[in-house]
Amino acid sequence: MKVMLYTQYGPPEVLRLAEIPQPAPRNREVLVRVHATTVTIGDTIMRSLNIPVPGWQKVLARFYLGWNQPKRPILGMELAGVIEAVGGKVTRFQPGDAIFASTFAVNFGGYAEYKCLPEKGVLALKPVSLTFEEAAAAPGAGMTALHCLKKGRIQPGQRVLIYGASGAVGTNAVQLAAHHFGADVTGVCSTANLELVKSLGACRVIDYTREDFTQRDERYDVIFDAVGKLSPAQKKRARVLAGSFLNVHADSDGGNKREHLLRLKEIIEAGQLKPAIDRVYPFEQIVEAHRYVEQGHKKGNVVITVVDSNQD
Ligand SMILES: NC(=O)c1ccc[n+]([C@@H]2O[C@H](COP(=O)([O-])OP(=O)(O)OC[C@H]3O[C@@H](n4cnc5c(N)ncnc54)[C@H](OP(=O)(O)O)[C@@H]3O)[C@@H](O)[C@H]2O)c1
Repeated sequence: MKVMLYTQYGPPEVLRLAEIPQPAPRNREVLVRVHATTVTIGDTIMRSLNIPVPGWQKVLARFYLGWNQPKRPILGMELAGVIEAVGGKVTRFQPGDAIFASTFAVNFGGYAEYKCLPEKGVLALKPVSLTFEEAAAAPGAGMTALHCLKKGRIQPGQRVLIYGASGAVGTNAVQLAAHHFGADVTGVCSTANLELVKSLGACRVIDYTREDFTQRDERYDVIFDAVGKLSPAQKKRARVLAGSFLNVHADSDGGNKREHLLRLKEIIEAGQLKPAIDRVYPFEQIVEAHRYVEQGHKKGNVVITVVDSNQD
């Protein structure tokens, strides 16, 4: 099968197309034919080893990722596809099922034609309303935004501000806050993304290139920094302005669970959430996709088409 491998850290060009044997599912695994996966900022960080954390955390991250070279040479933390085969003891899925999944806990692996997943892993039947491209973009940022916002215990009509509203987590957070929790949402983003953020459900938008929202004297029930880019001074002020202040870096741990993916699927099927897609690249152009994503300005998600959906 074709895969996109990286065996050394470095620029996008370290990713290279290769052929490796197709895996076979174990007793309690399913074999997925991958239709689509994503390139996230996390993929670019793992590829480059350019980890934006303090020194001691860098050391821990490097142990996790592989000290001298990557321990997990196939990136891709989420995917959507069709189950091709199942192991002898699988009861939850059958060949032909369209699924979407997080591969975060199973050594990643979305940049491949096939991936084996434990049937009890973070996978679920694909929401019928989504294409494979949209479904591939749903798990990571969707579960993260939902998990963080739940901590705010948002009630209908409450005032919620989403900072970094145009990113993958941010575009999910705006929709979830507005359409799932029923909040009155203010989105903070740059000029080019104001219309997008409004279209996702924000009642008000603030352009961070022109105004620092923390200098306004407006109060919120919840402020969520969905991109983790507020300065220490802005965070301090946000804590004063909000009943509850949430941060994607501090509050996202524990979000990657099967029950959260199932909840996300229900929310998507209720019409309250649809992943925002910026660009779709063919598999062979993952290097270009990494170049684009690591600039840090994507709008929502960047998707990779692995297998043409019409081939099934
Ligand atoms: N995606 C996931 O599944 C996931 C899961 C867990 C944790 N995280 C973490 O959460 C953080 C956000 O991830 P993401 O995937 O949402 O990132 P992303 O999609 O790559 O974020 C890019 C967006 O952030 C905006 N942005 C950049 N600098 C900004 C600033 N100073 N103020 C406001 N907006 C700014 C950009 O808009 P402009 O054009 O205005 O710059 C762009 O739209 C990352 O640290 C990531 O590691 C992500």
